[in-house]
Amino acid sequence: MEKEKFYLTTAIAYASQKPHIGNVYEIILADTIARYKKQRGYDVYLCTGTDEHGQKIEDLAQKKGVTPKAYVDDISGEIERIWRSMNTSFDRFIRTTDDFHIQCVQKLFKQLYDQGDIYKDKYEGWYCVPCESFFTETQAKDGLCPDCGRPVKRTEEEAYFFKMSRYADQLMEHIEKNPGFIEPESRKKEMINNFLKPGLQDLCVSRSSFKWGIPVSFDDKHVIYVWIDALSNYITALGYDKEQPGENFKKYWPCDVHIVGKDIMRFHTIYWPIILMALGLPLPKKIFGHGWLNFGSDKMSKSKGNVIYSDDLLPLLGVDGIRHYVLSEMPYAADGSITYEAMISRYNTDLANNLGNLVNRTAAMTKKYFGSVIPAPGVGTEFDEDLKETAHKTAVSVQEKLDSYHVADALEEVFSLFRRANKYIDETAPWALAKEEANKARLETVIYNLLETIRIGAVLMSSFLPESAEKILTLLGGAEAAWDSAFVFGTLVPGSQVGEPVVLFARLDEEAVLADIQAKKQAKDEPAEKEKPEGLAQISIDQFMQVELRSAQIIACEPVPRAKKLLKLQVDLGYETRQIVSGIAAFYGPDDLIGKKVIVVANLAPAKLCDVESQGMLLAAGEDPIRVVFLDPETPNGERVR
Ligand code: ME8
Ligand code: MG
Repeated sequence: MEKEKFYLTTAIAYASQKPHIGNVYEIILADTIARYKKQRGYDVYLCTGTDEHGQKIEDLAQKKGVTPKAYVDDISGEIERIWRSMNTSFDRFIRTTDDFHIQCVQKLFKQLYDQGDIYKDKYEGWYCVPCESFFTETQAKDGLCPDCGRPVKRTEEEAYFFKMSRYADQLMEHIEKNPGFIEPESRKKEMINNFLKPGLQDLCVSRSSFKWGIPVSFDDKHVIYVWIDALSNYITALGYDKEQPGENFKKYWPCDVHIVGKDIMRFHTIYWPIILMALGLPLPKKIFGHGWLNFGSDKMSKSKGNVIYSDDLLPLLGVDGIRHYVLSEMPYAADGSITYEAMISRYNTDLANNLGNLVNRTAAMTKKYFGSVIPAPGVGTEFDEDLKETAHKTAVSVQEKLDSYHVADALEEVFSLFRRANKYIDETAPWALAKEEANKARLETVIYNLLETIRIGAVLMSSFLPESAEKILTLLGGAEAAWDSAFVFGTLVPGSQVGEPVVLFARLDEEAVLADIQAKKQAKDEPAEKEKPEGLAQISIDQFMQVELRSAQIIACEPVPRAKKLLKLQVDLGYETRQIVSGIAAFYGPDDLIGKKVIVVANLAPAKLCDVESQGMLLAAGEDPIRVVFLDPETPNGERVR
């Protein structure tokens, strides 16, 4: 019989910077599901890759002094290497700079244009450069991007638009008729209430303000909006072509599940299905939105210096230590948390103590009492029945939880089976049984049951922690990881040989590990060698003197409501007090500033930032971090600085 197919994808990662542990979580999650489906007998295809176009990448490449292509080649290579280092089993790594992808996106854009789904118009409104998104007057209230909170720019340009509204009813109906289409439920509600119910606006699907993108084939002033380009990867990776669809496309489309983070649910549950409807293609069966991994309770960000990379964790925890942590910590519908302390603690509790000890003790006892030969079980007692029943219930429950994407809960079930087995050792006290020849049959049963429970646990765990599961199954004489065998107690063959006792996970010394992390962090923080900047054109002293710099003292400071980056300052110039709005809130608070002497550009034309008037500017160095230039506290206010 032909196998049933299962196609799943991750989001394609931005090739703008090295991915952190949160991005890595997503491929580990997808890999776990892919491996599970393979265990269940599906013909699985897992697609991942990199999203390589857009202004941000063009800018980063320019800053680094390389071409955008050279830039993304480098990062995409890194991303693929990191994915592989996590023992992930993807079948395809697509890059949006692949030739086939580019041609295919150009063709489908033209098709949508020819059909009248896309039209050309003039765009007037607000643009957020970092998000590469347009916003209307009401969306960009206060001149700030509704997505990221940074200031938006006024723009007016010719652009192409997609008539999203045309398909809104059809999409709504699809969502209602297919309850599993968007999961978890809470994210589905959010999409319906925040985006579909208020009505869909036409989406601007081209850009002409930068070049690094796929050109519109019939109008090369424009490049195709990065999201149309990126989302299409899910079909181009399968060789989609309207006239001659590739074999993989025919076999694997529609997608069984797109796995993406919560921040990009809107693109996947609204824009992507609508694009597919317009192309006349079947919709994916499910879009599953996972939460975010935060550092403690904070968002990971470079400016906060709290970004965790899997490369740094690998020597400490090993691949399965990392997989175990992230898979256990991300709840079904909420965010997860990562800290070094929590990682060490979970590793020691679950892997070293619970699982590692169980396997080690059991193999050691099998060796000591039976020369490493699997004994034959005899008649059982109540403890045995309870252990067997727990093993069976665990298999049923892990399957149910994996089928419904409750991955952390499923993994927890497996570890609770191992805990139950450890308790069984205490209940049956094999070392006491071993003292009397009369108890030999009982001891044989106990050891057999332990080995068998470990085998079942290893089969259930093998999609999560493939390397460790394989080690355990090899130790048990090469048992297979066939899913169905987890439901049958008594598969191990008495008389066959078990391997030498091993330490699967050595305990971590928390203090030593934390000190090591600290030391590595400090070494990394040492300033890198600075590149010589290009520099600006020379100016005369007269030109310089046109800038009126004056000393001033900060006398008041408060945050600006709804603008996370801004502080509102009152500065005393000696002859008058001025209000200055400054984008330094991420780096300074009122306590760091009040009373300090600073340099003010006093003849700068006033401007409004987020509706608050700013009458000048503070001098400061750098972008991330920003460092304010403080003057000698003795400096009188209002002095000219030159
Ligand atoms: O969004 N924890 O790429 P990306 C968990 N190129 N997941 C996280 C996370 C965190 N802290 N931070 C990010 C893009 N992610 C687009 C996708 S798909 C057609 C285009 C997730 O590199 C994020 O939600 O910014 C997304 O699913 C994935 O990592 C890649 O994010
Ligand atoms: Mg993102």
